[in-house]
Amino acid sequence: MKPILEVENLKTYFFTKEGVVKAVDDISFHINPGEIVGLVGESGSGKTITGFSILGLIDSPGKIVSGNIKFKDLDLQKISAKQMQDIRGNRIAMIFQDPMMTLNPVLRIETQMIETIKAHNKTISQQDAYNTCRDALGLVGISSPDERMKAYPHQFSGGMRQRVSIAIALLNKPDLIIADEPTTALDVTIQGQVIFEMQKLCKESGTALLWVTHDLAVVAGITDRISVMYAGRIIEQGTTDKIINQPLHPYTQGLIKSVPSKNKKGEKLHQIDGMVPSMFSLPKGCAFEERCYLRSEQCKQEQPLETQYADGRFLRCLNIGKQT
Ligand SMILES: Nc1ncnc2c1ncn2[C@@H]1O[C@H](COP(=O)(O)OP(=O)(O)OP(=O)(O)O)[C@@H](O)[C@H]1O
Ligand SMILES: [Mg+2]
Repeated sequence: MKPILEVENLKTYFFTKEGVVKAVDDISFHINPGEIVGLVGESGSGKTITGFSILGLIDSPGKIVSGNIKFKDLDLQKISAKQMQDIRGNRIAMIFQDPMMTLNPVLRIETQMIETIKAHNKTISQQDAYNTCRDALGLVGISSPDERMKAYPHQFSGGMRQRVSIAIALLNKPDLIIADEPTTALDVTIQGQVIFEMQKLCKESGTALLWVTHDLAVVAGITDRISVMYAGRIIEQGTTDKIINQPLHPYTQGLIKSVPSKNKKGEKLHQIDGMVPSMFSLPKGCAFEERCYLRSEQCKQEQPLETQYADGRFLRCLNIGKQT
């Protein structure tokens, strides 16, 4: 199957007064049509900047330093601003971590939702556009959608704003959705409903979904594959089954052990010792070395070995890479 999105050796750096932040440093991954891929990692690991890079939303002092981003047959770095504008919100939609990046505070929800449809479908009638928007609000669990359509974003709670931004992303049945922590502000019942609607869209329309989150528990149940990021790099990726049930990288193993288990009452939660190193002064060797139970002298000095396995698993580790 031909991937809908192919990211190859992407590097996005921020050239700040304090130094260079290698927010995304040489990552590669792909998503096939209809597939749900999780991009998981701790705060500051580069997940949002990966999504912004795909959509051409990196501003100074940030810059895509190198790499390729291919969407279908288009090289997203070579297309014009107009072409990118047509793709954004239509063929690729982003659900931002902050819903106010989608919503305009001075426009009624109705106006902005209908505009989203009409921007890419000039012939649709006002009534059909209205009905589609109202139904989309209903699908993400917003009650009395006809009334809520007339409201302004500030009249909604944070979780409701997030649901509206999800509804907007689904409106044009895009080929790809980049969803950045889409359900983090939602309570669990609504979270289930939103996840169900997104999975349905992927299944029925072949929409591919990149689900960006720090919460491995959420993506474990819904994704086909998972990429784990640490300090700007992908350190392990593979099928969800392999990543969850046979994680190889000590960081992935730590993340999985940190997920609260619903059966073991009173169980002390595992935590990964130490902290993510400063992005301004990453070590010469492996960025995870100080926190790793497998560390060796070599890990301090050398970048991890990159191993691509036949089953699609990718691993960045000197020690395990040597053993397997
Ligand atoms: N405008 C900017 N200028 C300088 N550094 C930036 C800028 N935007 C992001 N960064 C840095 O890039 C790195 C990656 O940030 P990013 O927002 O992608 O993290 P994240 O994985 O999405 O984290 P979170 O889970 O908290 O959302 C961080 O170290 C951040 O400080
Ligand atoms: Mg983020």
